Amino acid sequence: MSKVLLDVRNLAVSFGGVRAVDGLTFSVHEGEVLSVIGPNGAGKTSAFNCVTGFYKPSAGAVTFDGADITGGRPAVIAARGVARTFQNLRLFGDLTVLDNVRAGMHVRIKQNFLDAMLHTPRYWRGEDAATDEAHKWLDFVGTDRDRTARIRNLPYGEQRRVEIARALAREPRMLLLDEPAAGLNHGEKAHLLDLMRRIAGLGIAVVLIEHDMGLVMEVSERIVVLSHGREIADGTPAEIRSDPAVIDAYLGAEEAGSGRTTEVER
Ligand SMILES: Nc1ncnc2c1ncn2[C@@H]1O[C@H](COP(=O)(O)OP(=O)(O)OP(=O)(O)O)[C@@H](O)[C@H]1O
Ligand SMILES: [Mg+2]
Repeated sequence: MSKVLLDVRNLAVSFGGVRAVDGLTFSVHEGEVLSVIGPNGAGKTSAFNCVTGFYKPSAGAVTFDGADITGGRPAVIAARGVARTFQNLRLFGDLTVLDNVRAGMHVRIKQNFLDAMLHTPRYWRGEDAATDEAHKWLDFVGTDRDRTARIRNLPYGEQRRVEIARALAREPRMLLLDEPAAGLNHGEKAHLLDLMRRIAGLGIAVVLIEHDMGLVMEVSERIVVLSHGREIADGTPAEIRSDPAVIDAYLGAEEAGSGRTTEVER
């Protein structure tokens, strides 16, 4: 198998008494498509947040491309080649489509401070290059909307694509997608599936958190299953589908869920 790109060892993070991530160990190989699944509250987003520096883990180690990035700041980790999207979109609603994607590049394109302050020809050449790049990624994700429109005026599915374009504009080596199919219709999901394959085709590792099992089974080379902040299974889609521990985790979560509902109803 190819080289390990991301290595997560015994990761933990808690909120009050809740152990959101509780001794999680898994790895991502270069260029693979890996899904991270598990019932609601299993700790999937928290694990992403620890890897990308949005949460500080209380224990464990995160290594990316051989470098220790445990507890690093989000901008530093992003600059190393880790890009992500969010479960709830985080775009700049009042900025244009194009500017949202250009905003993703500022970690990468380093402008000379004086050039930027004095708006020299070199500054404008840099800006033109950024605009060309932004168009390139918007073409790649397949959005044909007016790119000078404010992002808030785009349909939801289009906004999701722009968020992926923004992440790609950072030229990452690994892209983390947190429930990218949520709220998408059937046709948009098919488009997303194709897009994820094309991203992997660029040699970028794709790590997908997703509840849509059809999509997960179709796109993943490997699946990691979380329950109560730990990995309970790791295997191919066929292995995961027939793993009793996985079925138990989902059924257990469902029973706990319905139990709560009954209590509320009483
Ligand atoms: N910032 C936070 N403050 C308090 N509790 C949190 C925070 N983030 C996560 N949690 C708690 O940690 C646990 C794991 O949540 P997390 O969002 O990581 O789960 P998830 O697997 O992404 O779930 P879902 O599939 O519903 O998105 C939950 O009990 C959640 O309430
Ligand atoms: Mg989540």
